Amino acid sequence: MSKFKIVAKTFAGLENILAGEVRALGGESVVVERRAVSFFGDQELMYKANFHLRTALKILKPIAEFEVAKRDELYDRAKKIPWTNYLALGKSFALDSTVQSEMFVNTMYASLKVKDAIVDHFREATGKRPSVNPEDPDIRINVYLMGNHCILSLDSSGESLHKRGYRVGQGDAPVNEVLAAGMIMLTGWHGERDFLDPMCGSGTLLIEAAMIARGIPPGMYRKSFGFEQWPDFNEKLFAEIYNGEYEKEFNGKIVGSDISVKDISIAKANIRNASLSKVIDLQVQDIITLSPPFSNGIIVTNPPYGERMKPQSIAELYTAVGNTLKNRFAGFEAWIISSSLDGLKSIGLKPARKIDLFNGALACSYRCYELFQGTHKQSVIIKKRVV
Ligand SMILES: C[S@@+](CC[C@H](N)C(=O)[O-])C[C@H]1O[C@@H](n2cnc3c(N)ncnc32)[C@H](O)[C@@H]1O
Repeated sequence: MSKFKIVAKTFAGLENILAGEVRALGGESVVVERRAVSFFGDQELMYKANFHLRTALKILKPIAEFEVAKRDELYDRAKKIPWTNYLALGKSFALDSTVQSEMFVNTMYASLKVKDAIVDHFREATGKRPSVNPEDPDIRINVYLMGNHCILSLDSSGESLHKRGYRVGQGDAPVNEVLAAGMIMLTGWHGERDFLDPMCGSGTLLIEAAMIARGIPPGMYRKSFGFEQWPDFNEKLFAEIYNGEYEKEFNGKIVGSDISVKDISIAKANIRNASLSKVIDLQVQDIITLSPPFSNGIIVTNPPYGERMKPQSIAELYTAVGNTLKNRFAGFEAWIISSSLDGLKSIGLKPARKIDLFNGALACSYRCYELFQGTHKQSVIIKKRVV
């Protein structure tokens, strides 16, 4: 099978984790870019990337890369691309664009020019025009224009890969599934220790943890991928990937708790839908009075950031979280993400690591606290981090 360039997009801060996933899958000439990883591979690797990469949002296949000296050139260059190879008549398409260029102050204008070029190419080649469907297209085309540099790609994922397909409900502030997987992978956890999210909301971190521990691919629950609509779709090859042997045994514990009865019932529904009810235990519980459900585990959690809470309540909550960790969770390693730096300070523990991440538009700090047994002076480090 011929090899081509593939670009996997992700969130800022997860690029190196994604590059590790890509290498493990067999990607060649892997390059870490800004919010993306590029690599070389064949059609099989592109299917696998969509099915197996936990920290990828999109898998793009660039089909043209060129410089645009003036505005009309975008249309001219785009019209020369053999679109009939990529898009069958009868299939609809839509464009998705990232544009930062003085030539196209109105970013919509750049996508419109590419859309016109595709339609006109079709009309001249076949006498017919393909339909545009921005809501639910068969084929998605990605326009990337940075200054004068343009890359046009086919989006092999379709809907963003964070839409795993297991979510049937969500709380007020669910963490994105790709960010949740990335947070867990940044800790280095693969199921070696028991796992706790004491502010689990709709259960995203618990489900992603269970999928990692059990080796369940993130694409397992999805109904479709963009490449299934491509004229060269190899159904047999994708069926082999889908039906591959990848699940592994996991006998540890994954436990979630939350103060909200409603959130726990949403988490329960999501977990049931992911067929993970036997792997994850849930309870309604205030973190302030929570006792460890096991010893020496890992905590990964996403507390409220105070976007809707008063600052003094946030300080109180984070202080209480810090006290709970110090007083009852010796031997654990706790990872907490928040955009509230004041809140994180109120925890009153010295982080062993700080990682910058974004939760949507919110700049966050993701912090690791190693909770020693005994007083700090006679501390016993439970686990040495291998980075
Ligand atoms: C940002 S949300 C977590 C979202 C979750 N990661 C998800 O994907 O759905 C924060 C959660 O903390 C919970 N929470 C707030 N105060 C709490 C407390 N004192 N004890 C336990 N949970 C609490 C809220 O009910 C909410 O579900």
